[in-house]
Amino acid sequence: MTDAPTPKPGILDIAPYVGGKGKIDGVAEPMKLSSNENALGAGQKARDAYAAAINNLHIYPDGRAGKLRDAVAAHHGLDGERLIFGNGSDEVFALLNQTYLEAGDNIVTGQYGFLAYRISALANQATVKLAPEPGFKAEVDAILEQVDERTKIVYISSPSNPTGSYNTAEETRRLHAALPPHVLLVIDEAYAEFVTAPDWETSFPLARDADNIVVTRTFSKIHGLGGLRIGFGYAPLKVCEAVDRIRLPFNVSVAGLDAAVAALSDEAHQKASLELVETWRPRLTQAIRGFGFEVFPSAGNFILVRFADAATAGAANDYLNTRGIIVRPVGGYGLPDCLRITVGTEDQNRAVLDALSEFAAK
Ligand SMILES: Cc1ncc(COP(=O)(O)O)c(C=O)c1O
Repeated sequence: MTDAPTPKPGILDIAPYVGGKGKIDGVAEPMKLSSNENALGAGQKARDAYAAAINNLHIYPDGRAGKLRDAVAAHHGLDGERLIFGNGSDEVFALLNQTYLEAGDNIVTGQYGFLAYRISALANQATVKLAPEPGFKAEVDAILEQVDERTKIVYISSPSNPTGSYNTAEETRRLHAALPPHVLLVIDEAYAEFVTAPDWETSFPLARDADNIVVTRTFSKIHGLGGLRIGFGYAPLKVCEAVDRIRLPFNVSVAGLDAAVAALSDEAHQKASLELVETWRPRLTQAIRGFGFEVFPSAGNFILVRFADAATAGAANDYLNTRGIIVRPVGGYGLPDCLRITVGTEDQNRAVLDALSEFAAK
């Protein structure tokens, strides 16, 4: 027994989250393609709103996020009372975990599911059950097999990070229909705006009539506001009311709220952001396949490239670094032979292709 403050059991067993690296020694302005950020940055309307917020820095934010609540409700055709705003959608996951999980409970997610779901589940002394993803996408039956009486939350992301795969509307409906009603189904749609596949649908309509679905969205991707940390969940009223008991009152900042409202109205920026991804996602995919590497089909603003083995992926990563390009090794997801690459600007994408073609020729 020590006298020093001791974290509660399990905390120190959690592997620290390793974010996308942002620097390369000796490179003044590296191309950062490691965190699925918006290559175009934030739109002008959001920038202007952020700049204008300077006059209100001394004012606490509206804890209800009233203006953003109204704007999101109108934009997506949702009941505003059923929205939970968070400091990024990451905070929405953490709030849900904190609200619903106690020691001995579990969450279920896919083998390659986004790591943020797991961290706060473990912090709440729950366990994480991973459903195998042999096809690199969440499988409905494999998830259902993991669900037991102590399962409180099932998380899927559609599209998913880092694989880029998605679940069809039919699969998502089937998963929901087969889940016991005490299980909350969280459908993370962080990359929704980049999907072009006709068999994908937003789960907002499914959630509207369900007592146990939360659909999350973020301002970090299509809106380019990752640095401001704004996300939200569309949830049953009872879930919102429960979460609101523990949500810190001022969890989204003044500048974040204002910028998010402006971003939602900036259709030109959303369109340009989507067009960039629609143009370059297939070009990058095809070109990199042409160099002899496997590229998974992606519905997000990134692609996942698989190399012969972990050593080759590491060498490719080092080679890209020498060209001033930072991508994301995904060994933490159990994919040590893969690198995730965010779709960048035209110049950045061309630099990636040049570097990978040189690497392939070595
Ligand atoms: C699948 C997925 N969900 C959620 C997020 C986090 O979004 P936010 O910035 O809103 O916390 C990310 C960020 O990379 C993501 O990949």
